[in-house]
Amino acid sequence: MAEIRFEQAAALKEKPDVSKIGFGKEFSDYMFEMDYNPKQGWHDPRIVPYRDISVSPANCTLHYGQAIFEGMKAFRTHDNRIVIFRPLDHINRLNNSARILDIPEVDVETVHQGLRKLIEIEKEWVPAKKGTSLYIRPFIFATDPYLGVSVSATYKMMIILSPVAAYYAAGFNPVKIMVEDTYVRAVPGGLGEAKTPANYAASLHAGLVAHEKGYDQTLWLDGVHRKYIEEVGSMNILFKIKGEIVTPALCGSILSGITRKTVLAVAKEWGVPTSERRITIDEVHEAYQNGELEEVFGSGTAAVISPVGELYYKGEKMVINDGKIGPFTQKMYDHITGLHSGEVKDTLGFVEE
Ligand code: COI
Repeated sequence: MAEIRFEQAAALKEKPDVSKIGFGKEFSDYMFEMDYNPKQGWHDPRIVPYRDISVSPANCTLHYGQAIFEGMKAFRTHDNRIVIFRPLDHINRLNNSARILDIPEVDVETVHQGLRKLIEIEKEWVPAKKGTSLYIRPFIFATDPYLGVSVSATYKMMIILSPVAAYYAAGFNPVKIMVEDTYVRAVPGGLGEAKTPANYAASLHAGLVAHEKGYDQTLWLDGVHRKYIEEVGSMNILFKIKGEIVTPALCGSILSGITRKTVLAVAKEWGVPTSERRITIDEVHEAYQNGELEEVFGSGTAAVISPVGELYYKGEKMVINDGKIGPFTQKMYDHITGLHSGEVKDTLGFVEE
């Protein structure tokens, strides 16, 4: 494993007031960085002061988007320890995205150690208030200054840190979702399974339209049949139907969410039946009409669990659990946030100290 060098900052910033932080606007004092070229491979892993970087105006990522990222979190536990939630799962998923975008994979151990060292240096940036965390944003982007459309030869990897509170201003509260039947986020054979900017760019306009219509997010249907449910906003989606937790199977156009995986594992531990399968919007509608649609929620690192209070589809409003947070959704939220805070015993080995 390559040695990780450290460059001291001349001065440190003042930490923000945790009661005022939102999501992803403030950044810590240091960041992790390393570079790739075909001769040296990934090299010179280092922790350096957080600063702007300069790229060529012809940087190929700016033009063609060959880039990937991750999102994970470090928490300060109730007894003042610092923990990271499932870091190796996130680094491995980064490599999965790398394979899809033809980006050279990183050495998991180097990135893991770089991340641990960065968090150790920046531990004062991990906020203590309930519901807050230090959001960790690893990312890789192509750096060739070249306007031809081709796979880049050179890359940069960085990890930046941002103290965050709730992702949605509404916090842990039911959101209103519009089922999207015009725009699509991803298609089979495309990039949907990768955490890559293109998928988020593809979601922006539909998100704006949903907002204009008074909805918080869009529920994405598959791009071919326009009937199978895929994701919600930038999260995975889960339904509780007749006591069973149902979530769309990973079919290539859905991101393999770490929180999704966590929810499924915890539900299994509790003895709650789970099913990863194709599910159509018509099946959800039918379950709703029969009174069998008990709860709906999104899962993602940023928001953790996001209860859905209303689904709007083709002129009809489906109000879930009277628009209130369902008991399973609440229990799962309490459990996962309890794993983060150390108040719930980590029986499945998700938390790394
Ligand atoms: C997440 O749920 O963690 C996301 O993917 C949202 C993130 C891009 C801010």
